[in-house]
Amino acid sequence: KSIKLSDYVEYPFLIPSIYLDFDIGTDYVVVQSSMIIKPKKKESSKLVLKGNQIKLLSISINGKELKLPEYSISDKGLIIHSPPGSEFELKIRSLIDPFRNTSLEGLYLSSGMLTTQCEAEGFRRICFHPDRPDVLSRYTVRIEADRTLYPILLSNGNEKYSGNLNSNNLRHEFIWEDPFPKPCYLFALVAGKLNSVSDTYITNTGRLIDIRIYVEKGDEKYTKHAVNSLIKAMKWDEENYGLEYDLDEYKIVAVRHFNMGAMENKGLNIFNSKLVLADSKTATDDELERIESVIAHEYFHNWTGNRITCRDWFQLSLKEGLTVFRDQSFTSDLHSKGLKRIEDVSFLRNFQFAEDKGPTSHAVKPKEYVAIDNFYTTTIYEKGAELIRMLELLLGKEKFFRGINLYIRTFDGSAATTEDFINSLIKGAYLEEKNCPFDLDKFLNWYYKSGTPKVYINQSWDSKNSILNVSFEQKIDSEKTSENTEMVIPILYSCYSREKGASPIAEDNLFILDKNKKNLKIHTLPGEKEAPVLSLFRRFSSPVVWESDLLIDDYLFLFLNDNDYFSRWDSGQYLMREILKTRLCNKANYSLEDRFINAIKQTIKSLEINDPFFLATLIAIPGFAELESLFTKVDPIRIYRESIDFQVLIGNEILQELRIISKNLLVNIDHQWPMGRGERKLLGTIWFYLSLAGDIDVQKNCVESISHSSMTISRAALGALKPLDNTLTEEASNLFYNLWKENPVVLDSWFAYEASRPHKRGINVIEKLLSHPKFDWKAPNAIRAVLGGFSKNIDLFHSLDGQGYLFMADKLIEVDKINPITASRMVKVFSKWKTYINKNKEGMYESLLKLNKANISSNTREVVELILN
Ligand code: ARG
Ligand code: ZN
Repeated sequence: KSIKLSDYVEYPFLIPSIYLDFDIGTDYVVVQSSMIIKPKKKESSKLVLKGNQIKLLSISINGKELKLPEYSISDKGLIIHSPPGSEFELKIRSLIDPFRNTSLEGLYLSSGMLTTQCEAEGFRRICFHPDRPDVLSRYTVRIEADRTLYPILLSNGNEKYSGNLNSNNLRHEFIWEDPFPKPCYLFALVAGKLNSVSDTYITNTGRLIDIRIYVEKGDEKYTKHAVNSLIKAMKWDEENYGLEYDLDEYKIVAVRHFNMGAMENKGLNIFNSKLVLADSKTATDDELERIESVIAHEYFHNWTGNRITCRDWFQLSLKEGLTVFRDQSFTSDLHSKGLKRIEDVSFLRNFQFAEDKGPTSHAVKPKEYVAIDNFYTTTIYEKGAELIRMLELLLGKEKFFRGINLYIRTFDGSAATTEDFINSLIKGAYLEEKNCPFDLDKFLNWYYKSGTPKVYINQSWDSKNSILNVSFEQKIDSEKTSENTEMVIPILYSCYSREKGASPIAEDNLFILDKNKKNLKIHTLPGEKEAPVLSLFRRFSSPVVWESDLLIDDYLFLFLNDNDYFSRWDSGQYLMREILKTRLCNKANYSLEDRFINAIKQTIKSLEINDPFFLATLIAIPGFAELESLFTKVDPIRIYRESIDFQVLIGNEILQELRIISKNLLVNIDHQWPMGRGERKLLGTIWFYLSLAGDIDVQKNCVESISHSSMTISRAALGALKPLDNTLTEEASNLFYNLWKENPVVLDSWFAYEASRPHKRGINVIEKLLSHPKFDWKAPNAIRAVLGGFSKNIDLFHSLDGQGYLFMADKLIEVDKINPITASRMVKVFSKWKTYINKNKEGMYESLLKLNKANISSNTREVVELILN
């Protein structure tokens, strides 16, 4: 049942070209495929094609119809037992039913339009095909349909022909041709009533690209941001990677019903509508930044993913890790390097580290899977990106880009592996010289081993010679083996003299920890009497956790002085984690809390509003998942209460300071994104603290701000009122609902707000949201808003009687019936059951058993079994 990396064998046939014909009817679609097939070897082998829920009508080879038992057919596909020994044409006529396909895989209906999602294995729901990424073909696609129901008919590549069909003019047809060989998971088709907004881009070699964004009627006004983002991405990739767009047209379609974020289909990206439709009135600053980065991500895939694709799905991180790295660099270049790094690290710690600690932990390059859809994870994506980032750091930018160039030149037009990538990168970086500064085999462990490595650091100060001796030790408890795995861990460090303060003694230095234990000597300025303060893992130079003998004083010093954004922020985060840890162990450390609050006051004084975004980031507490990860017996309800209490304390202690800055911020609030985003972020943070601290004026002002013209402000206001659960919260929520009830994308954020905010009305509230007239069971966004929001509703979801968990299990069983991909992703809300205190642990266990006994899909079963193990 499970697929293994070690079982990989080449497909015995080439399929250089495919002609697909779609005849769209009212009840079904007739699909005719005609494939040119070439056996790779002389000795004959049977032709195995995958197929899922396709009705076969007829099949022929070189014009001659095939009869049973020349082929056999099952619910998995089709086998032709003895195909010709040399090139032949295989024609298959079949029938599919997209109108009753709720899985959102293959061809399906979304708000009256037909659309596709083929990655990873959805193409087999469209036609009989090997459906594996290492089979690359040139596609020509003809689509015919009713002109009024489906005025727009799109597929990959460039438009070759369009025209009316018969005399009565009811039907029309389009022919699309994609000149670049591609794997079938990049195939796309869209048919429906869509309006488009167009723009153009001229590449650096002077080619004119026609850009088109397709949306439902009325949504045209929300496409400007997506277009601008795409143009920025095109330019950035030319300037930084020397990569130019290759087709004449670039199309993006916004779709309401979509399992994930977006899909990089060649020349025809299909997007979850929430990642296209946006302006500053309907989307927050964070959402605008995210949209810009996802548009760029899908665009960057045109080279890293499409022109060079993956040999098999075990190589998924080859395209995803690299492309996430590219989109992170893009955002970082466009906005702020320091802030973007903090944002990415915070995400990694809250999600990837949590995944890597739990039952669904897996390597960036897994060895085995049941359903590949379950491996579109933060490990493959974000940890994968961290590995590329380490390579960039280890090689240096210039060599890194030389390596990337060689990789692209070598593998363009083919399907590669992660090893191909690394080998090419190193070869290109050093050309023929053999002087790679790190051990490649040890570096590859990052791909092969799961788990987050841990680094221990101890210092000793040699005052006679002004040398700081630092010892490093690495440990990784991965894959449940005791084998001694050594990784290559790049550690960027610097140090500060205590007396001289803000400027570091040394520039950033790179220390490569590539053994279990290794020492470092730091020569400080001659005559230094006191040990310097060590700043470690600057820019978060490797995705590890570490424990050092730095003192509270050192962290306070770094929190005030470090000139590395990440390290400064991280020192504050460390202190806050310590404070919350001691509070939760019932031994609150008041002196530490006092000193930290004072440090915050000093920070506010020094940064004020010169760097408002950074200030907001510095004073925000660590994420909930990160806090949970600090304990071996997690009590979620207590963690939530303590974190609220601690924030009430911060709010009360810095009330005056916050009130003063909030006034100074107002001038810049109305500037258009990205301008003013720092001010808006800080204002939101201040409102949150002041509202928690009981400032009635701020609370009332928040209610009034719900109708503010900036969605960032409106949502910040909702956020500030959220923990209160009083009539103001209620009033604000109703106002927001009434403003946005006709906009499904914005309304999802209201659903999430309602489902996640604390209240005393019990689980009925969630039930009511699920039967709300505006709630759409078929839209994963809506399901994630309500059920995902509910999972963050700490008191309700984690209620000690286990009712929250059982409710969730019941709903996920329902979701699984219509959409296994969404259900199997959401089931991970139960991943951490073993780490909870007994009451919660038992409750979650019971719900997992319930899921396990139910008649669930193999996707969801794989995850449930892993979690239960
Ligand atoms: N390749 C897409 C992206 O990251 C993700 C699509 C995955 N979809 C799925 N059903 N597995 O850009
Ligand atoms: Zn991707």
